[in-house]
Amino acid sequence: MENTQRILKMLKDSGEFLSGQELSEKLGVSRTAVWNMIGKLREEGYQIEAVTNRGYRLVSAQDSDILNEAEIGSALRGVSWAGRNFVFKKETGSTNEDVMQYAGEGAPEGTLVIAGRQSHGKGRRGRTWISPQDGNVYMSLLLKPDYEPQQAPMVTLVAAMAVCAGMRRQGGDFYIKWPNDVVLRVKENGKDSYKKVAGILTEMVMEDAEIRSVVIGIGLNVNMKQIDEEIAETATSLYLGLGRTVNRAKLIGDIWKSFEEYYEEFKNAKDLAPLRERYEAALVNRGRKVRVLDPREPFEGTARGIDESGSLLVETRDKKLRAVSAGEVSVRGIMGYV
Ligand code: BTN
Repeated sequence: MENTQRILKMLKDSGEFLSGQELSEKLGVSRTAVWNMIGKLREEGYQIEAVTNRGYRLVSAQDSDILNEAEIGSALRGVSWAGRNFVFKKETGSTNEDVMQYAGEGAPEGTLVIAGRQSHGKGRRGRTWISPQDGNVYMSLLLKPDYEPQQAPMVTLVAAMAVCAGMRRQGGDFYIKWPNDVVLRVKENGKDSYKKVAGILTEMVMEDAEIRSVVIGIGLNVNMKQIDEEIAETATSLYLGLGRTVNRAKLIGDIWKSFEEYYEEFKNAKDLAPLRERYEAALVNRGRKVRVLDPREPFEGTARGIDESGSLLVETRDKKLRAVSAGEVSVRGIMGYV
């Protein structure tokens, strides 16, 4: 650990004032060097108080949000493989593209790329994922699975469960909009509405009809203070929805810890059967009227749940259950987005 990080750790561990003298003795450097390192930490965004005759104190880390390698590293300490090997970039084109490239260079399963901004963020259906540097998270994980290509889309539902679980630890009303958007319940003009706070794009690399790698790309609207007008009706951020700053590193750690648990169950079963009930408990569409936007034959019905492959089960007016498979069609609420 370099000395600046050691100072940070000492301040975090103590929570109290530590004198410049004490810090300089512990690190074996001059007090001027300590002062310079405190300056560096402040530049990174850490709030450090300096009081004559008392020393330095880190102002409460609660509700703070600094996304850097050290914070991510300590938040990911609890994972066993998903994110053990991570790369943090202040800015990149697309983290999905980065992971694909690393996969081609032989990176191991669990390699995670996290960025603070993307210049070419990709969304589903060829759309752009708006990726400003405004307190959000853009991240992608590499999987090297040994299951069949038709099982890969199910991983997206597993990832949605992990994002939803990670976000729920922040204390809000989070749900999944089938198949893999995570939404937050907010009050708007006195009425409940659900707005998207996370999107997931899973991409596959195939070779000779076999899966080489799967990349799970997750975009999280976290501390974004303003939502683009074109998406404001259906999207929000945790900051706007919960009314406070969220620590992104902690959120990232919570998501990948949950992912490891759910993914293990999925991998053993090779389908979503063991996760089905928990997925359905978080499914915002459940019991709601939906419109299935099937280009061949759009229809309406009531969403009942999912089957073990992740298809949405929609009950039509004649009481028949139709399975709608993810990737082929999208689903909207009768009255709007949900
Ligand atoms: C969606 O359209 O809902 C999916 C959006 C996925 C965006 C994420 S951000 C990190 C990763 N890199 C990308 O280019 N896209 C995904």
